Amino acid sequence: EQINKGNYEHYMQKEIHEQPESLKTTMRGRLIRGGSCKAKTVLLGGLKDHFKTIRRSRRIVFIGCGTSYNAALAARPILEELSGVPVTMEIASDLLDRQGPIYREDTAVFVSQSGETADTLQALEYALENGALCVGITNTVGSAIARHTHCGVHINAGVEIGVASTKAYTSQIVVMAMLALAIGGDTISSQTRREAIIDGLFDLPNKVREVLNLDQEMKDLAKLLIAEQSLLVFGRGYNYATALEGALKVKEVALMHSEGMLAGEMKHGPLALVDENLPIIVIATRDSCFSKQQSVIQQLHARKGRVIVMCSKGDAVSVCPGGLGRVIEVPHVEDCLQPVINVVPLQLLAYHLTVLRGYNVDQPRNLAKSVTTQ
Ligand code: AGP
Repeated sequence: EQINKGNYEHYMQKEIHEQPESLKTTMRGRLIRGGSCKAKTVLLGGLKDHFKTIRRSRRIVFIGCGTSYNAALAARPILEELSGVPVTMEIASDLLDRQGPIYREDTAVFVSQSGETADTLQALEYALENGALCVGITNTVGSAIARHTHCGVHINAGVEIGVASTKAYTSQIVVMAMLALAIGGDTISSQTRREAIIDGLFDLPNKVREVLNLDQEMKDLAKLLIAEQSLLVFGRGYNYATALEGALKVKEVALMHSEGMLAGEMKHGPLALVDENLPIIVIATRDSCFSKQQSVIQQLHARKGRVIVMCSKGDAVSVCPGGLGRVIEVPHVEDCLQPVINVVPLQLLAYHLTVLRGYNVDQPRNLAKSVTTQ
């Protein structure tokens, strides 16, 4: 069932559209709400004997490549907020190039869809040699990373065939949000926040179903962008990762130059690129960074930039006063889960751009699903 295309033309298309289901499978049996004590809690059986050690760690270090790295980056703020442990990020190859510091007091979390990526696997060997507690987050039971880590969580997203990772990305974020909740424990001070996130997780598959309704709108946008040389995506906070991931999808399958950028860095260089031709997607959904993103949009308009804004439903007028530019309205969810929603229109855009440009959706040139050589 999972390895045929069903009614879809391509695996990538199928995998994008099955995200409401894959997210449900990821959360199944792990989120508890109600019962006699009405408690809302998270169960991650594979880690239950290690939470004490993780909470006492000097750092949590996320390690991965490509989309898996981006998923960890999306989850970093909620890990920092709920765990109280400093969280740092490492691209596996860069950690190895630098022989960067990994300590025995660290918890090193290896994120990999395939569980077989050579760089990530080698970084795991390095972290094991350095004595860190090694946690695996993979989609592949029995994979090398699942076998060699001390403990871990499977994301249970189902088999992913398209080289461009889509449903694994959203499931990875959800697993890491659950990890943050589980590490955070039951402190009274964060109870309201934790419960809001758990409620948000329960409702997330419905919200993803809702955002998938943007399919035709993203196809229309793809038609507009079909002949462009380049596309920028600006995000910040929770959605810096969304900008990186959206741009990665566009470049790897649509073979269009695309860069995800931290919006806070715009004035430190990228602003020079802005003109009336270069399309720029600005992610400005509601969270604590919203007013800063409004000011970014204003600055882009002031320079006659070609702006496409992704905003929360009902915010079109506040992000584009006077109807300037194009708007993608997405459902609003709890801030730390918003990257799961926001990436979907960008996955759809990348998919439609690829089909319209006539490229191979599921097997982009020069790429392999799993990079098992260094
Ligand atoms: C994703 O669309 C890419 N094909 C690629 O970046 C991928 O995420 C990366 O190679 C890491 O793979 P992994 O998750 O299997 O370790």
